[in-house]
Amino acid sequence: MDRMMMPKNENFRTIWLKPDDPTIVQIIDQTKLPHEFLVRDLGDYREGAHAIREMLVRGAPLIGATAAWSLYLAMIEGSNTSDPIGFVEQAAIELGGTRPTAVNLRWALDRVVGVIRLSGEDQDLVSLLRDEAQSICDEDIEICWNIGVHGCQLIEEISKRKPGEAVNVLTHCNAGALATINWGTATAPIYAATQRGINVHVWVDETRPRNQGSQLTCWELARNEVPHTLIVDNAGGHLMQQGQVDICITGTDRTTRSGDVANKIGTYLKALAAKDNDIPFFVALPSTTIDWTIRDGLTEVSIEERDAREVSHVRGMHGGEVCDVNTVAEGSAIINYAFDITPARLISGLITERGICDASEEGLAQLFPELAGRA
Ligand code: MRU
Repeated sequence: MDRMMMPKNENFRTIWLKPDDPTIVQIIDQTKLPHEFLVRDLGDYREGAHAIREMLVRGAPLIGATAAWSLYLAMIEGSNTSDPIGFVEQAAIELGGTRPTAVNLRWALDRVVGVIRLSGEDQDLVSLLRDEAQSICDEDIEICWNIGVHGCQLIEEISKRKPGEAVNVLTHCNAGALATINWGTATAPIYAATQRGINVHVWVDETRPRNQGSQLTCWELARNEVPHTLIVDNAGGHLMQQGQVDICITGTDRTTRSGDVANKIGTYLKALAAKDNDIPFFVALPSTTIDWTIRDGLTEVSIEERDAREVSHVRGMHGGEVCDVNTVAEGSAIINYAFDITPARLISGLITERGICDASEEGLAQLFPELAGRA
């Protein structure tokens, strides 16, 4: 499998079982991109937890999938103990503490633990968890593909209004194939549109401090030959004022049942600028990212605070080596909030696997009545 040709290659995946050793899960180490393409082995659930915490894998759906595969690894290990189920439940608690904002983490852990609790006495729990982790990944690919099909309509409509010209999409962070299993959420409509021959150009926010835009989204789009331009995070408002942005599409780590969106820090500022310039601002999400238990993003979502070093240092390639460079005067205080909340009132619509809806309780409940009703 040529993982470099992602996601053009329909077989591309960000996480998979090692073909010749089913006790190992393999991931792409995203901390090394775009300079190095490194596949890493996860041999136990602790390595899975480390990969999530240190962001070797990141992006809400991939965090969830990694947690599911980690519980499979925990079950292999736990099978040699007197209490395999207790062992996996303890692993689920540890995994649940790795990153606080993306709700897919809790969703995936609850789903896998739920499967164990419903299992019969004679069931092979290792196979059961392997199949469940695999299903979560297979479903994510289908979900993202469908987000692409629905979101593509928005791009197509804009394209019809400006024949012969590129549709300019602005995106923030990496809500691409690398953040999911394949296709991405915010990028899925872009890939679907380019596959249909629609002329699309993407403005990629650099996304400080970790630069998921320049390091991951640019890498992805370049490999798929999607025309794109990297901009610093503060350039978006200017481009919008100049009429150079037709639509903004971002991802989300957690969407409340009323449509508030927690996403990478800086998303809120883009939504404000889009509102001021009458530019549609859409958020693409799988239903696994909806937190049906909460309404108010501002008071009810825990916002991850990460290491100050991510702000003080910038990672790059120097002299053939990937290294971190300090950019800050000594003695300054630093704070590093990883996410912010974009209120539903600033969002033009939510692009989901079942269609596009208003960013509102009614909109989400109409598309997902069974999930809205259950919470
Ligand atoms: O801190 P990260 O890199 O995990 O943040 C990722 C994002 O903010 C994405 O936009 C979000 O997870 C959606 S991914 C489809």
